[in-house]
Amino acid sequence: MYFQWYPGHMTKAKRMMQENIKLVDLVIELVDARIPVSSRNPEIDKLGKNKARLILLNKSDLAEDKWNDSWAEYFKKRDYSVVKVNSKKGGGIKSIQGVIQEACREKTERDRKRGILNRPVRAMVVGIPNVGKSTFINALAGKACTKTGNKPGVTKGKQWIRLNKNVELLDTPGILWPKFEDQTVGLRLAFIGSIKEEILNVEELSMELIGFLKEFYPGILKGKYQIEEMEDNFLCLKEIAKSRHCLIKGSELDTEKAARLLLDDFRNGRLGKITLEFPYNYE
Ligand code: G4P
Repeated sequence: MYFQWYPGHMTKAKRMMQENIKLVDLVIELVDARIPVSSRNPEIDKLGKNKARLILLNKSDLAEDKWNDSWAEYFKKRDYSVVKVNSKKGGGIKSIQGVIQEACREKTERDRKRGILNRPVRAMVVGIPNVGKSTFINALAGKACTKTGNKPGVTKGKQWIRLNKNVELLDTPGILWPKFEDQTVGLRLAFIGSIKEEILNVEELSMELIGFLKEFYPGILKGKYQIEEMEDNFLCLKEIAKSRHCLIKGSELDTEKAARLLLDDFRNGRLGKITLEFPYNYE
């Protein structure tokens, strides 16, 4: 679900995050593998200072494998634990519990030295809207997990999901707000469908996507729609409309329909695995 962000929303999201983060040892941050930087909010680094950190490259099924690997390296170099996941199909989920324990090893060691034994590690999931937080929590926790925390009659306590005897997960994810200052970031968030369509011009957006695809994935539009990848993006869009019989009243080309079709094909992976940003631009 898209969320219109006003300063009030951001303040509330931040306050909730500040409260909840105090309760955990580890922050599990979901990013979209197609735009691992644009789908983050760097403020989480401040909020999560002194916590163990795990980044999940979610929707890795929609991004190119070689770039998923490069992004994993990129974040590992910066001291995050990293796992590539596909929360929808369960890919990568099995390894998570082990990675959580490994990421919190220092803390567990410290506890042990102070004589605190068997205290479970506590974790919370954070990320911008639509990045897959709920899907991930469901995939990780499944249905078999026991909920802990709330006692009957106590409504205010936090709900913790016990994943195993060593790990507990806060059942509600922290919502991070996307960054708006940067045009490119906004555009990429719009490509993946994280910005409300009503406030966008879909034809312009699709032409931007066409421009990107022609440059970084040449031949992909030709392969999918059997069109020539011409210099002019609007002509390309018209070609897609022609090829897919997007017509108004049976004759005029419906470029808006073609634009929606292209964006939809991209977002659902029907154009293939496509990465929209590359680590070499962020070194
Ligand atoms: P949120 O809590 O962070 O807001 O995100 P949520 O879990 O609601 O997921 C947003 C959308 O992303 C959902 O699609 C979900 O199925 C999809 N999704 C989550 N993880 C993955 C993944 O690893 N790969 C892919 N391909 N998709 C993922 P939806 O269109 O809202 O629903 P549906 O089409 O799945 O029913």
